[in-house]
Amino acid sequence: MLYKKNNLYIEKVSSISLSKKVKTPFYCYSYKKIEDNINRFKSNFKSIKPLICFSVKSNNNLHILKIIRSFGLGADVVSKGELLRAIKAGINPNKIVFSGVGKTPEEINFAIKKKILLINAESHSEVETIENIAKKNKKKINIGLRLNPNIDAQTLKKISTGRNEDKFGINEKELLKILKAFHNSKHLKIKCLSVHIGSQILDHKPYSKMIKVINNFINKSKYKFEYIDLGGGMGINYNLNKKVLNYKKYYSEIKKFLKKHRVKIIFEPGRSIIGDAALLITKIIYIKPANNKNFIILDAAMNDFMRPALYGASHNIVPLKKNRNILNKVHDFVGPVCESTDKFLTLKKYQKLKKNEILAICDVGAYGIVLASNYNLRTKPIEVLVNSSKFKIISKREYINKII
Ligand code: LLP
Repeated sequence: MLYKKNNLYIEKVSSISLSKKVKTPFYCYSYKKIEDNINRFKSNFKSIKPLICFSVKSNNNLHILKIIRSFGLGADVVSKGELLRAIKAGINPNKIVFSGVGKTPEEINFAIKKKILLINAESHSEVETIENIAKKNKKKINIGLRLNPNIDAQTLKKISTGRNEDKFGINEKELLKILKAFHNSKHLKIKCLSVHIGSQILDHKPYSKMIKVINNFINKSKYKFEYIDLGGGMGINYNLNKKVLNYKKYYSEIKKFLKKHRVKIIFEPGRSIIGDAALLITKIIYIKPANNKNFIILDAAMNDFMRPALYGASHNIVPLKKNRNILNKVHDFVGPVCESTDKFLTLKKYQKLKKNEILAICDVGAYGIVLASNYNLRTKPIEVLVNSSKFKIISKREYINKII
């Protein structure tokens, strides 16, 4: 995304001309950005050649997954639906890991039938269930165990997963018990130790701590894992003046760790691959002055993009056409849904805006469309993919008559 003569371009496509062809609100992805993000992620961890399993929960669009597969990535899935979608996108089951605290027996059975790389279990009870199902299928199944390292990832409270009080993973003591109980199982092969401490992590220190905890755990258990799955969580720069994650430090911690343990590393990134690769293009329906501020009422709402309402996340909003008339007045960018939390952003000043003008909400590629709903009986936005000077629609439009 860049401005040429004050007009916003997505690759070589003018966003204004696009917004005349596609009804707002719509998500707009850039192929190039996805490609760049994947290449950067790979080069950040070059020498260790990790298996990179894209976290499908962050974006499950079939076309997006096909692009991601074309760069050799695998998938991290959390439901039968995501597993089916990943397979439909052509991702090799041998590169798929299945996470989640509540996989049902049906989902486990399905994953076993599809011969995926690993089922990462999160409780003793789940390991038992996997063993039973493996036995019924007369198979030996590869599993991982997810450790809860009791680390605060210093991210948004609502997306932290690695503390003891969070529902995720298994604490050290319990994990040692599970290893003891199942290491000789006829139907299970415990191959992986996995962790994931949270999302939108910008400080490398929680990752360093996490590696220490894993190192200590391996030394204590004396168990030989084939894989260490470090999860995802790498944060992105939502607001341009904020800090970015120091990948170099994370990388060097991992390299140090690998000198002591000969294992293969798995990552499960979502946001860092797709987060900044999309805009939500939205039209101003009305401008309403009130109490020294202007409400900019958009045709996109919290049902289209939930992060601000759900987590208090802040996403920049930019005009498709820049002008130099700055209005020094508070601007509240809101949607039409009947909830006070249906607000995207508040800014102290903004360029002069007009009714029917089009804006773009930034960095909505991860946890964007996947969290969209029909709340207020609104249809979900469609998705468009730009590649160089071309664009195509990559999801089906919902029609209100069909929903009714
Ligand atoms: N692996 C596991 C086991 C996870 O639970 C998650 C995300 C990921 C990988 C991918 O994390 P990422 O690299 O995308 O940070 N809806 C929230 C984020 C929820 C994250 C859930 N787990 C948001 O919009 O911020």
